This record gives sequence, structure tokens and C-alpha cells, in this order.
Amino acid sequence: MDASDLAYRHPMLYDLEYSALAADIEHYVALAKARGGPVLELGVGNGRIALPLARANIEVHGIDRSQDMLRDLQRKVDAEPVHVQARIRTRQGDFRHLKGPRSYRTVFLPFNAIHHCTHHSDVLALLASVDSVLLPDGRFYLDCYLPDPILHGRDPSQKYGHTDFAHPVTGQNIHSWEQSWYDPIAQIHHVEYTYIPEGETPEEVKLDLRVFHYQEMLALLDWGGFRIAHEAGGFDGRDVTAKSSKWILCIERKGEA
Ligand SMILES: C[S@@+](CC[C@H](N)C(=O)[O-])C[C@H]1O[C@@H](n2cnc3c(N)ncnc32)[C@H](O)[C@@H]1O
Repeated sequence: MDASDLAYRHPMLYDLEYSALAADIEHYVALAKARGGPVLELGVGNGRIALPLARANIEVHGIDRSQDMLRDLQRKVDAEPVHVQARIRTRQGDFRHLKGPRSYRTVFLPFNAIHHCTHHSDVLALLASVDSVLLPDGRFYLDCYLPDPILHGRDPSQKYGHTDFAHPVTGQNIHSWEQSWYDPIAQIHHVEYTYIPEGETPEEVKLDLRVFHYQEMLALLDWGGFRIAHEAGGFDGRDVTAKSSKWILCIERKGEA
């Protein structure tokens, strides 16, 4: 089991942490509506984006490595109307090891999942996978973070982002915080979330996230046979600048017009 699989052992905590996000869902739903389905979502998780896609009439095929996230997605799918259920297909798999056929016009890798590619060979394997499933005029869409010197300069002993959540079933308070440290040699941002449910054992969620510099990503895409077709510095479409922390990408094969 990979460290990132352990990080996704608690889909309920994942939902508490990220359920307020909406801009990325709107972005991927608008793209999918404009391009039509089926869409392949790599790192589909427990359906934060796949369910809104399916509710918007888009057929979604999802791949994820985490059995826990896929099980939770199935639980949510089972609660949907049958016509929504019929639009979602998932399977457990590693997005670095796909082998065709070339059947998708649109492949998504949303919500920073590329940061799980901790070595540059993982990114090249991911790009080879995408190449094997993408139709000749296909596009590969992802979003990630650009390096953030303030975030990476955090004091590892400090607790940041104290938050109180209500347990979705019991209503019980769950207190959480985050700690992190950056390894500039491996370019890994180590993040640790701690969740303390009242009277219960704390849970820790650890993420090792590879940080990509702008020119490094361009080089990786180039080596993998791809290039950027469009980019933005936020889901509102703003330009990428030296101050951007988010990077929204539309990627195409290099040979295409
Ligand atoms: C940040 S979550 C995104 C989940 C969902 N797309 C969303 O937006 O909420 C990243 C997901 O990628 C999955 N993942 C990480 N590395 C993977 C790999 N090599 N192959 C397949 N899935 C992977 C994790 O299990 C996790 O569910």
C-alpha cells in the first residue's frame, strides 16, 4: 500500500475537509458539457466531481487506486436516481499504468491529484497512460498548485488552520489542524492533518505532495509528448502570473494543430 492510499482511508474526513469547494466542480462540469461525454476521471476518489458530472448528464468513467474512496463513491452512487447511477462506471487502478484503447476525447485529473506523482518518472508514466487512452483530438485537463514559498516556509512545529467540524452522523465536534514541512531536495511538501473527535482517538492523515515548478512541468509535458493548449491561474480564468498559487491546465499532444 502506498502512503497516498493511507491518506484516503477516511472518506468521511475527506468530505468534511473539502465539501465547501465549488469552483473546480463548476469548471469541470462546464468543460464536460462543452465537450460531451464520456469523460475519464483519473483519481475519481469518492465522487466529489464525478457525481455532479453524472447529474449534469455526463457519462463518467472513473479510476482510483483507493478501495476506501471507491467504496464510498459506490455508497453515494447507490443513493442517486437510477439514470444518474447509469452514467457512472468506476474501477480500481493506477493512473500511471493505463493501456488504451484510445477512446476518450476528454480526460480529467482534478484537484491536485498530480501532486501524488512524487517522482518525475511517475509524471512520465501518467502521460504515457493518458496518451494510450486519449483520442487523436483529445484533451487532458488538470489543476495543481504552483510553488508557494510562504506555505513551504512554515514552521513544522506550528499547528495551522485550526477548524471545528460537526460529525455528519452524530453531530459530535471534530477539532482539526494541519502541520507541514517542505523538503526542497525531493520537492515534497509533507502535510499532516490531525482530527480529534470528542472523546475518541485522534486520526492522522498524511500527504506527501510533490511540488512542480512551472518550467519543470513544461519540460515534463514536453518529454511526455504533450504541451499546454490553455492555462489559467485560477478557476475564474485569470492569467498565470508570478503570484499565482493555482494552475489550471488544458493539455494536448505536441503534434496537434
Ligand atoms: C485529491 S483526491 C481527488 C479526488 C476527486 N477527484 C476529487 O476531486 O475530490 C486524489 C485521488 O487520487 C487517487 N490517486 C492518487 N494516486 C493515484 C494513482 N497513482 N492512481 C489512481 N488513483 C490515484 C487517490 O486515491 C485520491 O482518491
